[in-house]
Amino acid sequence: MEIKKLVRKSCLGFEPYTAGKPIETLKREMGLAKIIKLASNENPLGASKKAVAAVKKNLEKIFFYPDSNSYELKQKLSQRYKMPSANIFTAAGGDEIIELIAKLFFNKEDEIVMSKHSFIRYSMAARLMGSKSVIVAMKNGFKHDLPAMAKACNKNTKAVFVTNPNNPTGTYNTKAELAAFLKDLPLNKFGYKPIVILDEAYYEYAALEKDYCGGLEFLNDNPNLIVFRTFSKIFGLAGLRVGYGFASKDITDYIERTRPPFNVNILAQAAAAAAINDKEQIKKSQTLIKKEKAYLYKEFENLGVKYVKSAANFILFNSSPLKGKELFAELLREGVITRAMDEYDLPDWVRVTIGLRKENELFIKKLKKVLKK
Ligand SMILES: Cc1ncc(COP(=O)(O)O)c(C=O)c1O
Repeated sequence: MEIKKLVRKSCLGFEPYTAGKPIETLKREMGLAKIIKLASNENPLGASKKAVAAVKKNLEKIFFYPDSNSYELKQKLSQRYKMPSANIFTAAGGDEIIELIAKLFFNKEDEIVMSKHSFIRYSMAARLMGSKSVIVAMKNGFKHDLPAMAKACNKNTKAVFVTNPNNPTGTYNTKAELAAFLKDLPLNKFGYKPIVILDEAYYEYAALEKDYCGGLEFLNDNPNLIVFRTFSKIFGLAGLRVGYGFASKDITDYIERTRPPFNVNILAQAAAAAAINDKEQIKKSQTLIKKEKAYLYKEFENLGVKYVKSAANFILFNSSPLKGKELFAELLREGVITRAMDEYDLPDWVRVTIGLRKENELFIKKLKKVLKK
């Protein structure tokens, strides 16, 4: 049986996702006693303590289906962000949110605008639905060129993805830039501005930048805007898979109707509801990342390694004279997992997640060794 003949055309060319191997597997394979993972922008401080306590408390309940409406979590989000529950949706991480939006809105004839080096799941979602990805070059190579993105929109543009701050470059767009972009978007054939999907996975880190502004402020005036965030990053709940978003009541209602009914599991709901008000987790993580970012910038400068200033908890740096893939492989042999950027069309760059001081020191030590500095 040739299954290929039955698969939807738009699903045929997908490569398997290359997820990072578990640390224990790598230790065994590489014969290393110690490995540090600075690859997936997780929180080096670990999960919110409040979340862990909530998971423990709810463990015995896992034989129940979860609350399909994430009622308590939405209540907490509603209070925290002063936004009615009817404008809030939850899902199994930002990844699922991207896919839910794509399934809801993207048709074959639609064009979806995105930046050249932004989160890979956007083009994958467009491809999954058979839509056309329109890729826009970034300003100075690394920052969303919002005016150019608005210009790339035409009658067929259904949606635009904006990541703020962006992964993998770490750059951000200011409040004024975002406001101008939302205003300047042209109308499509429906007579509306395209849907803007504002991905704020690293919102809490970027919030330290003076001219950064979360997208919630723009929601009232922009019914075409969807803002989403995640519990995977600063709250340290990547393994539980939970994210949330804000949009008009109508958009939220359609997302609610089309999502899988139990997409946020019982432990994820409890953990997220506890984590959202964990001010200590947020503060500690922000402080650590700010300090360690400064440390890494300085070390990169001492080594003459080019890097891109980041508003998130990772840094993109140049792998010269090696290719990114080679540097990644060399560092891996030394027990440090980073991320090569070929899939982001940045073959001479590597992304490193900011870790604890000890981890960052080890990373720098190994980088020096590998680059023979
Ligand atoms: C920009 C961006 N958006 C969304 C996600 C998805 O995060 P999650 O599915 O863990 O919520 C990530 C994760 O790396 C990301 O970097």
